[in-house]
Amino acid sequence: MAKIIDGKKISAAVREDIKGRTAEFIAETGVTPGLAVVIVGDDPASKVYVRNKKLGCEGVGFYSVVCEMPADTTQSELMAKLEELKGDDKIHGILVQLPLPKHLDEKAVLEAIPPEKDVDAFHVVNTGKIMLGDYSFLPCTPAGVMKLLEYENIEVSGKECVVVGRSNIVGKPMAMLLLHANGTVTVCHSRTRDLAEVTRRADILVVAIGKADFITGDMVKDGAVVIDVGMNRRTDGKLTGDVDYVSVEPKASAITPVPGGVGPMTITMLLENTLTAAKQSIK
Ligand code: GUN
Repeated sequence: MAKIIDGKKISAAVREDIKGRTAEFIAETGVTPGLAVVIVGDDPASKVYVRNKKLGCEGVGFYSVVCEMPADTTQSELMAKLEELKGDDKIHGILVQLPLPKHLDEKAVLEAIPPEKDVDAFHVVNTGKIMLGDYSFLPCTPAGVMKLLEYENIEVSGKECVVVGRSNIVGKPMAMLLLHANGTVTVCHSRTRDLAEVTRRADILVVAIGKADFITGDMVKDGAVVIDVGMNRRTDGKLTGDVDYVSVEPKASAITPVPGGVGPMTITMLLENTLTAAKQSIK
């Protein structure tokens, strides 16, 4: 029987801590941390994420604005909005919800967010700092995974860590954070030969590949810690991760469920980054 890593509970505890530090910061400085979330178009999943980000801000005492822009927003209109937010002293963090409509240049948009307000840590400057291990902002999902491991007292140092997926948002920064924590890290992807042979080596297996129930029990070593970053919707409408929970759970020593595992931590780490941005803005 695996220990179920309760992301909801851990997230609530971390948010309570952020709320306390926010109240102290406001009392000391008179500055309220502020987050702006920009959403272009009306993708239903993105709308839910954005709503949860706003609720998250309210929960810890931040100021927040949601800038809703129509699906046919031009590149220059979006750039102008970012320019406005860049100059707004009440806003310490700016996040553009991804994916953007196809006609927009995502790379140019992410580079237009000043690194000191880039609470997603997607700007090349912040990406480079993560590579060097010298960072103020950590990308939210990998940072959330590290926080879960820390809360569960799961030691990374010296462990075989296998990351499945190499996205810029999760897989690559996840590998870096595990490496900084002295894990021995392998990154797998769609061209990996004999994936199961590699995943079976993992003491800590982090899966972020975007394929429902992809990792099955035969691909996991007895006693492994399994972290499922996936969030897929089955044809019956149910949410499911990238890990086949039914066959993997009996083999794992600890596992994150979907929903209620990594998901709640992502917004929590965004809140942490926003508080950091606000603190750095007055130095
Ligand atoms: N879309 C899915 N995940 C994310 C995220 O972490 N940040 C942003 N900006 N958009 C996303």
